[in-house]
Amino acid sequence: MDNIYFITILVAFIAAPLARAENEVGGSIFYFGNKTATLSCNITSGGSTPVTWYFQNTSLKETGDRYTMTGTPSTPVLEIKKPTRDDAGQYTANFGTTANCTVNYTAAPLVLDMVKSMSVEKDDDLDIVCDIRGYPPAEVVWQRNGVNLTESALIQLRDYNGHINAQLYIEDVQYSDEGTYTCIAYSHLFNSSSTKSLVVRVKNPIAWVWPLIGIIVEIVLLGIVIFICAKLDKRRAIRADFNDTNQSVGQGHGGARKHGGDKHD
Ligand SMILES: *[C@@H]1O[C@H](CO)[C@@H](O)[C@H](O)[C@H]1NC(C)=O
Ligand SMILES: *[C@@H]1O[C@H](CO)[C@@H](O)[C@H](O)[C@H]1NC(C)=O
Ligand SMILES: *[C@@H]1O[C@H](CO)[C@@H](O)[C@H](O)[C@H]1NC(C)=O
Ligand SMILES: *[C@@H]1O[C@H](CO)[C@@H](O)[C@H](O)[C@H]1NC(C)=O
Ligand SMILES: *[C@@H]1O[C@H](CO)[C@@H](O)[C@H](O)[C@H]1NC(C)=O
Ligand SMILES: *[C@@H]1O[C@H](CO)[C@@H](O)[C@H](O)[C@H]1NC(C)=O
Ligand SMILES: *[C@@H]1O[C@H](CO)[C@@H](O)[C@H](O)[C@H]1NC(C)=O
Repeated sequence: MDNIYFITILVAFIAAPLARAENEVGGSIFYFGNKTATLSCNITSGGSTPVTWYFQNTSLKETGDRYTMTGTPSTPVLEIKKPTRDDAGQYTANFGTTANCTVNYTAAPLVLDMVKSMSVEKDDDLDIVCDIRGYPPAEVVWQRNGVNLTESALIQLRDYNGHINAQLYIEDVQYSDEGTYTCIAYSHLFNSSSTKSLVVRVKNPIAWVWPLIGIIVEIVLLGIVIFICAKLDKRRAIRADFNDTNQSVGQGHGGARKHGGDKHD
């Protein structure tokens, strides 16, 4: 009886460490130009089952030469060939049902290029996204013409791809919202930031009306000119007719006057 009791305690004692949360041996840091990244994980006991590595809820396959899985059953190693900043994130080694351990592959933040400028119609909404790579997630500070923007009834800041406040949303854009918008993505872990700017212009929503009015005015003026010309032409034609009919009469007069003039000389 006593023996069975003892064995039960012993089994419980041995089994307990199997379920313990395990630790990360050393997170790897991404640097631009690295040829490989080595992530490893350390489990204090167990490790008989082959591990499966996960990244963003997807199990990683040893296909191609992108990922290589080495190490020992208790200290599995994941090697990533030609890593990019997109590979940064949290990796999990799953030991079946026994344990999981996570490794952070960290990278300083980088804001991807934005369009240089954009136009938005007055009273429309402005929606700008700061597309950031890096891990852990960065925290964004937005500036307009160098002045920090804070959240208000009209200005909303939303998380984007896990990065805090990376999306700026302004409702009912006014002319005063025009300016240079800057996204500053800051990482506490790296104590470094990445910055990109774009120029926002606010257009008059009925701006298209003015050229149309111009065209209409031009057509009307043209119509008036054509009408006047036609009227003048008609009048000239009538006068020409009148002159033609008067010419014979006038000529007689003229001849008479000439005669008179000649007399004077
Ligand atoms: C990545 O690059 C950095 C700086 O160039 C270097 O210190 C580090 O050892 C490299 N890591 C790997 C795994 O190659
Ligand atoms: C695994 O972690 C334990 C406890 O932190 C440490 O004593 C041991 O040296 C580590 N083993 C390896 C292979 O890193
Ligand atoms: C992974 O799955 C969890 C739970 O289903 C979810 O909350 C999380 O957003 C997922 N992560 C990614 C990167 O898809
Ligand atoms: C390990 O992670 C997976 C997926 O998140 C989860 O289903 C499982 O319960 C975890 N196992 C342990 C022992 O924590
Ligand atoms: C890995 O990153 C997560 C999320 O930022 C953090 O909670 C966790 O403490 C990190 N792990 C280590 C070992 O630094
Ligand atoms: C802008 O915000 C950043 C981060 O919160 C802060 O460090 C900085 O002092 C602020 N600048 C001004 C002028 O308020
Ligand atoms: C962060 O970097 C700035 C300079 O870039 C430095 O003045 C400051 O002391 C650093 N802060 C920490 C906590 O390392």
